[in-house]
Amino acid sequence: MEIVLYIHILSATAWVGGSLLLFALGIFLRDKEAQKNVYKHLGPLYGYFESFWLITLWITGFILYEHHGFSGVFKYAYDSQLSQTMMQKVYLVMFLTFVTIIHLIIAIKTHQKDRSKFLTVISRGSSLLIFLLNFVVLWFAISVRSQL
Ligand code: HEM
Repeated sequence: MEIVLYIHILSATAWVGGSLLLFALGIFLRDKEAQKNVYKHLGPLYGYFESFWLITLWITGFILYEHHGFSGVFKYAYDSQLSQTMMQKVYLVMFLTFVTIIHLIIAIKTHQKDRSKFLTVISRGSSLLIFLLNFVVLWFAISVRSQL
């Protein structure tokens, strides 16, 4: 099972690392033309890259979930701190995945096209939300692990 945990943690570093890098680019790359070029070339690759690691996180996370018997923990010890922390983590990741899908749909539909103000706000807002949620999910991940 170590290999699954290894892939889970590797996926977490790639997923969170990717989002940190793109967020930093958005803030520090002030030249509008350079920014447009970066998003034009990096955008699609970044989308596939992040989607791949998020799917891997779900698959390996689910295997670890079953391995640690979380179905039983929910059934027999629903009120325990462990089941509550795990449940919060899964809800957070579901929300994170939902926001990511919205962000991806806007990115695919408007790639290299002019965006309405509304879609720009939703796209930037979702990217900020994904960025912030990652820190919270990581906190819950460590909290689950320390209770196992
Ligand atoms: C963005 C999504 C996710 C991130 C960033 C993430 C991150 C992590 C990290 C960093 C750890 C290791 C914590 C440590 O060793 O201190 C971990 C462990 C774990 N994760 Fe996730 N995770 C994600 C999604 C999921 C999902 C969707 C599930 C379940 C369906 C899941 C289930 C678990 C379990 C059960 C462990 C403990 C594994 C063990 O210690 O053997 N994770 N996660």
